Amino acid sequence: MRKKIVAGNWKMNKNLQEGVALAKELNGLLVADKPNCEVVICTPFIHLATVAGLINNEVLQLGAENCADKASGAYTGEVSAEMVKSTGAQYVILGHSERREYYNETPEILKEKVDLALANGLKILFCIGESLEQREANQQNEVCKAELEGSVFHLTPEQWANVVIAYEPIWAIGTGKTATSDQAEEIHAFIRSCVAEKYGQEVADNTSILYGGSCKGSNAPELFAKPNIDGGLIGGASLKASDFKEIIDAF
Ligand code: 13P
Repeated sequence: MRKKIVAGNWKMNKNLQEGVALAKELNGLLVADKPNCEVVICTPFIHLATVAGLINNEVLQLGAENCADKASGAYTGEVSAEMVKSTGAQYVILGHSERREYYNETPEILKEKVDLALANGLKILFCIGESLEQREANQQNEVCKAELEGSVFHLTPEQWANVVIAYEPIWAIGTGKTATSDQAEEIHAFIRSCVAEKYGQEVADNTSILYGGSCKGSNAPELFAKPNIDGGLIGGASLKASDFKEIIDAF
């Protein structure tokens, strides 16, 4: 059966000392009170190696928020999937709407990143989701399906086993406006049907599909109770250990 996962995306927050303190605090909370789901923190690159050395992987996994679309070489400022892996991280977030929008990451670029991440033994948290305009035009299903087809549906079923999908409606990210649990459940079920159409029902049933967008302790229990919502990808509420723990405790 598929995994339940709560993953934090710190985005561009926390300097090294603050990030280390947060990771230590969270790790302590989880060691003391074992979570009923997999917990992942995705941090800026500079935190990875240090944080990897101080968390207990039995209760807490680590991921990056991005990786390069090239394997290595003269790409000043970029960080490769191999480098991410070498820090001890297990995951990488790819396809986040902020990277698609602000850094012009196209489906083709994301496809390269996906392939490199998997080739280097990383698991992928792949984000999809529609804008407000697309939601108002009732295009959310086709937008999500196209994002899957554009960057991850070329994978083999074996590769797919290392992919987690995060549905993140752009209009709900950092806005305090969350999708209702019924809205989220409806599109999660649709996303699972797309996976079933591509890889078969068994693979679809084993695929974790997370919800992201203003998810917090107060709404996580209702969201996570839905049959097709397998956890969350958390931005703002992952920046304080007690807030994040409250979401983890929804399981
Ligand atoms: P918020 O939880 O801050 O809305 O961010 C969600 C998100 O983008 C996680 O990747």
